[in-house]
Amino acid sequence: MTHVLTALAWPYANGPRHIGHVAGFGVPADVFARYMRMRGHDVLMISGTDEHGTPILVQADAEGLPPGEAAAKYNRVIVEDLHALGLSYDLFTRTTTGNHYRTVQQLFETLYDNGYILQRKTPGAISPSTGRTLPDRYIEGTCPHCGFESARGDQCDDCGRQLDPTDLIDPVSRINGETPRFVEEDHFFLDLPAFAEALSAWLDTRTGWRTNVVKFSKNLLEDIQPRAISRDLDWGVPIPLEGWRERPDKRLYVWFDAVIGYLSASIEWARRLGEPEKWRRWWSDPEAVSYYFMGKDNIVFHSEIWPAMLLGNNGSGAAGGEPGALGRLELPTEVVSSEFLTMEGRQFSSSRRVVIYVRDFLERYSPDALRYYICAAGPENQDSDFTWAEFLRRNNDELVAGWGNLVNRSITMAAKNFGAIPEAGELERVDRELLETARAAFDAVGDLIGSNRIRAATAEAMRTVAAANKYLADTAPWKLKDDPKRQGTVLHTVLQAVSDLKTILSPFLPHSAQRVHELLGGEGVFAPMPRIEQVDDLDSGGATEGSYPILTGDYSGAPPWESVPVAAGTPLEKPTPMFAKLDPSIVDEELARLEQ
Ligand code: MF3
Ligand code: ZN
Repeated sequence: MTHVLTALAWPYANGPRHIGHVAGFGVPADVFARYMRMRGHDVLMISGTDEHGTPILVQADAEGLPPGEAAAKYNRVIVEDLHALGLSYDLFTRTTTGNHYRTVQQLFETLYDNGYILQRKTPGAISPSTGRTLPDRYIEGTCPHCGFESARGDQCDDCGRQLDPTDLIDPVSRINGETPRFVEEDHFFLDLPAFAEALSAWLDTRTGWRTNVVKFSKNLLEDIQPRAISRDLDWGVPIPLEGWRERPDKRLYVWFDAVIGYLSASIEWARRLGEPEKWRRWWSDPEAVSYYFMGKDNIVFHSEIWPAMLLGNNGSGAAGGEPGALGRLELPTEVVSSEFLTMEGRQFSSSRRVVIYVRDFLERYSPDALRYYICAAGPENQDSDFTWAEFLRRNNDELVAGWGNLVNRSITMAAKNFGAIPEAGELERVDRELLETARAAFDAVGDLIGSNRIRAATAEAMRTVAAANKYLADTAPWKLKDDPKRQGTVLHTVLQAVSDLKTILSPFLPHSAQRVHELLGGEGVFAPMPRIEQVDDLDSGGATEGSYPILTGDYSGAPPWESVPVAAGTPLEKPTPMFAKLDPSIVDEELARLEQ
């Protein structure tokens, strides 16, 4: 048994989730966490909404709301979206809690005491027409590295490099097109060059990472610079230093606080459990493992900045030092980054209506239909495209005609002819072969999930479904009315395969796995689901206004990842279909919605 931290990138609380947001890493990380639990590991799956920074300010401005209200509104919406998909967070919280503010400030203080935070004068952008600070993200210009013309003041989305607004060639405000004025301001910087050696040594010990992530991360070290971690903003975590704490116009940079969310959420989870030190099992034990899931535009923060902050906390950079109040903290085991999902060949864009929100999707289709598409065809190693035609095909040909049909046919026949799971008589070679195929799938599919190859894992599971369907076609139990003994053996055999497959498919399709469990006469929870709970903030000092919804759950009931013999004699009833076959007309209907 290993402690497995499953850390998912924190969505900005600036709008509902669309399917692009959940395809890259939300669903794949949930598959991973569910599987790890079934293998008997102690999983801690955490995340929350990222509520500071300019993305929130811009949305709040657009809606005429104070930033705290906008963040609270979208925190709730996002919690509901993720809940509806069945993502099994141990804790999904927010970055505006008192606990988060305190943890962020503790880590800042340790980094400061250890000598990894520099104070410097740096040019800040001001809007000449309003006199207000112009946030980095809202400055656009040409990337000095690759020439991309729509690079932002914090990052180039083309070459992925981090930028400062002053790096941009011909910077302009994205809000009104004017040229920003730069004025000298005091700011804090994380001394990244002090970690270059330690980061490089750490990266050299990493195994199993996707090649693009390793390459990208090593490249970052070649041109490593101190990174600003404070901003001219009034919305964010206050800087915990004399003379700065009370200043309303200076805050910590949103990325500095957000990555600390992984740690603060683990602490909040432990405190809510009433075992306030329990988080250390995932953070202070070198035997524990941690997997961080995100889109590719987040790699730098997880493979360079967050590890550097952890090294600084541990006193393991060039300036030395001692672990702070939180003790020694382990660096990520693996940074699992996904590519992007496009929609009908175009980039998702809420403003241009190239978008489908999770909640709208789930009004018309089941969560497992969406999960299946994402698992089978998501942007794991390369960008992938969501099309309604492909969704229809995968749903009807694979989910309904494959898995749904197998469950439906086998249970219907057994219910009709025996009213129960029949006894198996002597097994023939075909029977043994199917049972063997199903048993072998545990290892094959499990290994693939364990190495985060979710697409291949899905394909492998569906090959086993196809083998069971072929078995039914070959043995044709409907023709065996005159030989009830053989008919019973065949149906027993295929029900055993169905039972194994419901276990194997449960990380991908937890809602329908629970259904199959019940159809086969099982009771209780088979695929545990998250629940929404309204809680009070544990501490004052944050910006939550006291109470907020979290996602949490009891996942201890997850079944083991192994074949469990079905019990002959268990009563069976004729099932109703598990998945809806979709009419081809939905494709045009959905495309018309996009065009509106
Ligand atoms: N909110 C960021 C984004 O959507 C992700 C934050 S991940 C964390 O790109 F590491 F900061 F938590
Ligand atoms: Zn670039």
